Amino acid sequence: MRIPHDDGPEEESPRRKRKAATKPEARSTPAPKGAGRVVEPSAEEPAERGANTEIRPQTFDEYIGQAALKRKLAIFVAAAKGRGEPLDHTLVHGPPGLGKTTMAHILANELGVQLHLTSGPAIEHKGILAGHLTALGTRDVLFIDEIHRLSPTVEESLYAAMEDGRIDLPVGEGSQARTINIDLAPFTLIGATTRTAMLSGPLRDRFQIIEGIELYGDDELALIVERTAAILGMAISVAGAQEIGRRSRGTPRIANRLTRRVRDFAQVDGLVEITEKSASVALDTLGIDEEGLDANDRRLLTMIIGGFDGGPVGVEALAASLGEPRDTLESVYEPFLLQRGFLLRTSRGRVATGKAAAHLGLRLPPGAVGAQTGLKI
Ligand code: ADE
Repeated sequence: MRIPHDDGPEEESPRRKRKAATKPEARSTPAPKGAGRVVEPSAEEPAERGANTEIRPQTFDEYIGQAALKRKLAIFVAAAKGRGEPLDHTLVHGPPGLGKTTMAHILANELGVQLHLTSGPAIEHKGILAGHLTALGTRDVLFIDEIHRLSPTVEESLYAAMEDGRIDLPVGEGSQARTINIDLAPFTLIGATTRTAMLSGPLRDRFQIIEGIELYGDDELALIVERTAAILGMAISVAGAQEIGRRSRGTPRIANRLTRRVRDFAQVDGLVEITEKSASVALDTLGIDEEGLDANDRRLLTMIIGGFDGGPVGVEALAASLGEPRDTLESVYEPFLLQRGFLLRTSRGRVATGKAAAHLGLRLPPGAVGAQTGLKI
């Protein structure tokens, strides 16, 4: 499985009509003049490309959750604007789907500058990086998603750009070969990564702001569901939004996707409003269980319990048994299972808890670590 490209919302057509009365943007501040985005085609998932504007929050006010992070970033933005300087280079880390790209959009918007989006794998060589950097206007933001996937040579070129505001480019061949130094406009680099541990030390050290995005609480997700449903023009009860939020794995991208799917069920059933009951039936049908676990989560826990006597099992062995890359396990599946007490990370490997076994209707062997710890949670 590919690691999903991070971003909050999956998108609707920008041409889709929505109810003006329910439009949350009515409360928001208008985008500053000159703010905008330049999207490299490969920087966003096909479903998201070009259509993100509908449900993506544009301002700190519209953005739900991550209160402490928003407070800090709002101060850094205000301070940079007050000095007439670019925002310091910023690294945002966290599991996929929590809104790292959305935060980059908001930062650029609040700074009143253009956002240029690309990703580590898309910058195949120095020339591509130079193209992005030289296209930046004064104080613009360059967003590099999956920044841990830059090649070492590209990464090294980025150091001079971040530190000295210049890029050195080799031109010509043979006896004509020389290096030209290009001075860059002052800019902000926003890097996003699912795991800071995967970033090289020298690159991490060149960011002056390093912040994490955490899994969201169920109540925050319910508010995101309400907001998204309103933008989609679908009425939803408070309990209906809570039901979807509760089963969204702490992840806005999932909340938004489930909201769309539940809306499909409601629409086909001729409902005028998504209720708790209709949401619950739709989510059951989609294979999302009461605790918000999907088929992949259950497969992982079942493998530890059934295939490895509840663990501990090394992450490499577990990844091989599931046929998934280790990184997908660590950055996509595990954060939620750890947070909700279904899984433990121990020095000897992964352990399924008593709570996981009880939830799946399975039994841990009497000597299993998860059983011994009495972790029913
Ligand atoms: N859509 C995705 N993430 C969101 C957030 N944090 N707030 C509001 N809408 C969102």
